[in-house]
Amino acid sequence: MKKTVYLLALTALVASCAPEKKPEMALLNAKDFEATVDGKEIELFTIKNNDIAAQVTNFGARIVSLFALDKDGEYQDVVWGYESIDAYLKATDKYSGPVVGRFGNRIGKGQFTLDGREYQLSINDGENHLHGGAGGFSTKIWDAKQLNDSTVTMSYFSADGEEGYPGNLTITLTYTATADCALKLTYSATTDQTTIINPTSHAYFNLNGTSDNAMEHTLMIAADSFTPTDKGLIPTGEIRSVAGTPLDFRAATTIGERIESDYEPIVFGGGYDHNWIFSKQSLEHPQVRLYSAKSGIEMIMYTDQPAVQFYSGNFMDGIDTGKRGDKHNYRTGVALEAQNYPDAPNHDNFPSSVLKIGETYTQTTIYKFSIRK
Ligand code: GAL
Repeated sequence: MKKTVYLLALTALVASCAPEKKPEMALLNAKDFEATVDGKEIELFTIKNNDIAAQVTNFGARIVSLFALDKDGEYQDVVWGYESIDAYLKATDKYSGPVVGRFGNRIGKGQFTLDGREYQLSINDGENHLHGGAGGFSTKIWDAKQLNDSTVTMSYFSADGEEGYPGNLTITLTYTATADCALKLTYSATTDQTTIINPTSHAYFNLNGTSDNAMEHTLMIAADSFTPTDKGLIPTGEIRSVAGTPLDFRAATTIGERIESDYEPIVFGGGYDHNWIFSKQSLEHPQVRLYSAKSGIEMIMYTDQPAVQFYSGNFMDGIDTGKRGDKHNYRTGVALEAQNYPDAPNHDNFPSSVLKIGETYTQTTIYKFSIRK
């Protein structure tokens, strides 16, 4: 008897994110994602493990829905998205949930030099290159396969010259719903010619469900410094301390508290839209903590990347209608993009984003959920 009680207690501890009752999950219908585009089939996959579930599509290797339990034992869908492939294809907003690349974030004037040769990438953001260009990874139909209930793997072949990038590149991304309530993203890529690479996931999180103002969330970023930019959000090359600035998130702070500051980087970003450099690059450290007191959900981001772009949804404009009729309103979601620094190919003092023949690019990023009451 004693043994049974002990075992039950142990089970409760191990499955600390498990609910006492099984609440409903507003899963989207896979049928609404069936389409053939450019001769390739688009699909929606559902992966689950204990109390985490995600829906992902091979259109842009995109996270469509992500379910985590709130403090009342209900599931909240904590990412912005649309309920059908038609809605995704029609949306003016192109960056809800996909993997962006070959080089996520910006490259000044789309130019860089590699092995003495100058390259010109496509231009799609003022005079700059953003998120791999207008035809970047987020617009492609990836080859996808569900490996088991909790794992989907996707790959994409990016031909030499696509959007101006050198080298045939093959990238693979595996989404895994893990037993400890996390969604894990593991990337790998190889090339047949020296190239640059910096893919990242561009999910918009809102821990109350997707229609709420996200500015009440608290945020912690384990970063002592950031990379200031010009007005076009291209890094100047300076690495500046966050101390004494509205970008100091070393202690958890409500996002909205300092977002209207007249500090020049905040003005340039129209809010938060900056690259924070982690104080210590390590997959073992909680690098980012996002928390909503309203839902009680906390999300911790672990990543082996050196930095994160925290973007507070300043360009969200309410034009598009998402899941359950939600409006894509101003600052209703925040992106936390694990990555190398923007414009890295043009700054010798930034970590290298160069990938050579025979090398394998890898990245692991984990979004882990728990409840704080
Ligand atoms: C972010 C970027 C923003 C904006 C957004 C997409 O990653 O930092 O400036 O371009 O993507 O709307």
